[in-house]
Amino acid sequence: MAILKLFSLCISLFLLIRAPVRCDSIHFPSSSSSSSSSSSSSSFSSDVQLLLGKIRASLEGDTQNLLLSSWNYSVPLCQWRGLKWVFTTGTPLVCTAASSPQWSNLTLFKDPSLHVLSLQLPSANLTGSLPKELGEFTMLQSLYLSINSLTGTIPLELGYSSSLSDIDLSSNLLTGVLPPSIWNLCDKLVSVRLHGNSLSGSLPEPALPNSTCRNLEALDLGNNQISGTFPEFVSRFPGLKELDLGKNLLSGQIPQSLGQLELEKLNLSNNNFSGILPVFSNSKFGVEAFEGNSPGLCGEPLKSCAVPSHLSSGAIAGLVIGLMTGTVVLASLLIGYMQNKKKKSSSESEDENDEGEDEENGGSVGAGGEGKLILFEGGENLTLDDVLNATGQVMEKTSYGTIYKAKLADGGTIALRLLREGSCKDRNSCLSVIKQLGKIRHENLIPLRAFYQGKRGEKLLIYDYLSIRTLHDFLHESRAGKPVLNWARRHKIALGIARGLAHLHTGLEVPITHGNIRSKNVLVDDHSFAVRLTEFGLDKLMIPSVADEIVSLAKSDGYKAPELQRMKKCNSRTDVYAFGILLLEILIGKKPGKSGRNGEFVDLPSIVKVAVLEETTMDVFDVEVLKGIRSPMEDGIVQALKLAMGCCAPVASVRPSIDEVVKQLEENRPRNRSALYSPTETRSENGTPF
Ligand SMILES: *[C@@H]1O[C@H](CO)[C@@H](O)[C@H](O)[C@H]1NC(C)=O
Ligand SMILES: *[C@@H]1O[C@H](CO)[C@@H](O)[C@H](O)[C@H]1NC(C)=O
Ligand SMILES: *[C@@H]1O[C@H](CO)[C@@H](O)[C@H](O)[C@H]1NC(C)=O
Ligand SMILES: *[C@@H]1O[C@H](CO)[C@@H](O)[C@H](O)[C@H]1NC(C)=O
Ligand SMILES: *[C@@H]1O[C@H](CO)[C@@H](O)[C@H](O)[C@H]1NC(C)=O
Ligand SMILES: *[C@@H]1O[C@H](CO)[C@@H](O)[C@H](O)[C@H]1NC(C)=O
Repeated sequence: MAILKLFSLCISLFLLIRAPVRCDSIHFPSSSSSSSSSSSSSSFSSDVQLLLGKIRASLEGDTQNLLLSSWNYSVPLCQWRGLKWVFTTGTPLVCTAASSPQWSNLTLFKDPSLHVLSLQLPSANLTGSLPKELGEFTMLQSLYLSINSLTGTIPLELGYSSSLSDIDLSSNLLTGVLPPSIWNLCDKLVSVRLHGNSLSGSLPEPALPNSTCRNLEALDLGNNQISGTFPEFVSRFPGLKELDLGKNLLSGQIPQSLGQLELEKLNLSNNNFSGILPVFSNSKFGVEAFEGNSPGLCGEPLKSCAVPSHLSSGAIAGLVIGLMTGTVVLASLLIGYMQNKKKKSSSESEDENDEGEDEENGGSVGAGGEGKLILFEGGENLTLDDVLNATGQVMEKTSYGTIYKAKLADGGTIALRLLREGSCKDRNSCLSVIKQLGKIRHENLIPLRAFYQGKRGEKLLIYDYLSIRTLHDFLHESRAGKPVLNWARRHKIALGIARGLAHLHTGLEVPITHGNIRSKNVLVDDHSFAVRLTEFGLDKLMIPSVADEIVSLAKSDGYKAPELQRMKKCNSRTDVYAFGILLLEILIGKKPGKSGRNGEFVDLPSIVKVAVLEETTMDVFDVEVLKGIRSPMEDGIVQALKLAMGCCAPVASVRPSIDEVVKQLEENRPRNRSALYSPTETRSENGTPF
């Protein structure tokens, strides 16, 4: 309630502030520009009056300007430089050919239905300033005045413009603050380029909370003197592709939320930013995007952030708090809650006793004031000190927490997964899950080497670090030198995933469901195309409400089985459904679920159904899949599509078991495998399938 009231108060304040200013500027044109034209003003295009009056005078400054002198009643309108026109109806005035009737029409300027559509005078020797009347053009969409010598400020009135979407005032001599009214244009703005001026002060916030400026693609404020903190609100602009804040005086932290944007260009260099860089999930930027900031700025691609020596409970809590903005209260509440609980249940006094608990599984226990370390096969040489003194850098944040690449003192590298808050609290049930996960060894599953639990319940899972990429990267990222994913390779990847999953479902004493099958959780070696699944079984380490929350997140990714809408527990059938979606993703090459760009939901099974009905089935496959294939039937491609559709059956009981999936994939292999593989693969590691 309180928030709602505050919000409506904000709106009314906003309207109050905005309305009178707007009225001030509206009465202006008729009174002032009539003085500059001697003809009767009523039958003129009001935009022409504006141009010949205040606008020309202001842009020109003290010196006569060659280009602006074309703006003259004795010159046909079509020959006025730097202008494009549109009629009130929306039809543009066509001025292109010198032969067109408009080209020499000397009375066109009198047409009251003509409006300025764009004003483009880059490199035009303009030496004046920006007139506030620029905000009065009703149909002006683009304003390009870059590379001139314009001085003064950006007028507040520019923000009252009703159609402006592209602004380029780069490389001028503009000073002062960016007026807050710029965000009045939020919904229409596509690009704002103010690079290379002398703008100062801090960036204004949009007046409306949660403004998303959904069409804004480019914001270039580089090379100015803008101060203050990072404008966090830009990370709510979903369409932003280019952000340049380089060479300013900005400081403080760069918000993690910036990492969620699908940025293509980014420049935050030469400021005074500090703290931990966000993890950019959809793009990779080099050092040049971040260099020249405070020495405290760290994280990929800059130096790694030193995890404070001794990853003490406090430090971990600090990390969690630092990384998960917005969950500060939850984290500290949880810590407080757990401490209380321990006090109350002191009769159990399990903390002291279970340090000596017998680990039947070849594991050993490191004890001490810091917490508890359980070692599994392959992790025997790790010590508590090794883990606690490792220096780490954030690799990725997932729904289960944060993954660090950590360097051990002896030079080895491990992957540390710090579980988010909300991991299970009951020590016994937790440990039995951990021990079960620690036993799992299969060539298509990432092995858990050790587990650490701190005094306050924080949990670190320690895995091998593999410097290989995810299937998601392979399928959806463009990068130079990326190996071609032909059908033979995709088949090998799909079979590897199915085998890993089959081991979880049927190869263990106590079966495990993966719970989070998706292309981001499949690591692929780019020489051998051997795969390893990650993130399996972690739902069992979460308290039920958090596990439910994570399951529901899977919905937006498109991997969630329909029955999970009602019952939240994952099982082997929901895993098979997610595998089916993943197999479709491998075959079609499209990302399932909500697409970042316009939030559309990509439903892969529906795409296939439509294609089958329209008899265009062959068109759904990724072009790389069909490369070099003579008969999609004989090579098992069509069978794989059918299999994937079977896995995605809406009714859980008719989906095949994962063992059946493995069998079918093995029976329907690509015929000409060797020819399609690169020579390096003949040297592929021992034991990988194929
Ligand atoms: C328009 O052009 C005429 C003739 O070329 C010139 O005398 C006049 O000063 C110009 N007017 C303006 C406002 O530049
Ligand atoms: C010139 O343009 C005006 C306004 O659009 C129009 O009324 C007039 O007929 C045109 N004159 C010629 C000669 O085309
Ligand atoms: C700009 O001004 C300079 C000197 O004032 C002149 O040499 C040049 O021709 C002008 N350029 C344009 C496009 O008017
Ligand atoms: C703004 O966003 C926050 C967090 O996403 C949300 O809690 C709040 O209700 C939103 N406010 C409005 C007015 O939409
Ligand atoms: C980033 O901005 C700085 C300063 O404006 C510039 O020198 C540098 O070339 C830019 N880097 C990239 C990658 O655009
Ligand atoms: C940069 O920021 C740090 C705080 O992070 C501050 O102590 C320092 O004075 C700033 N340096 C400059 C040049 O503004």
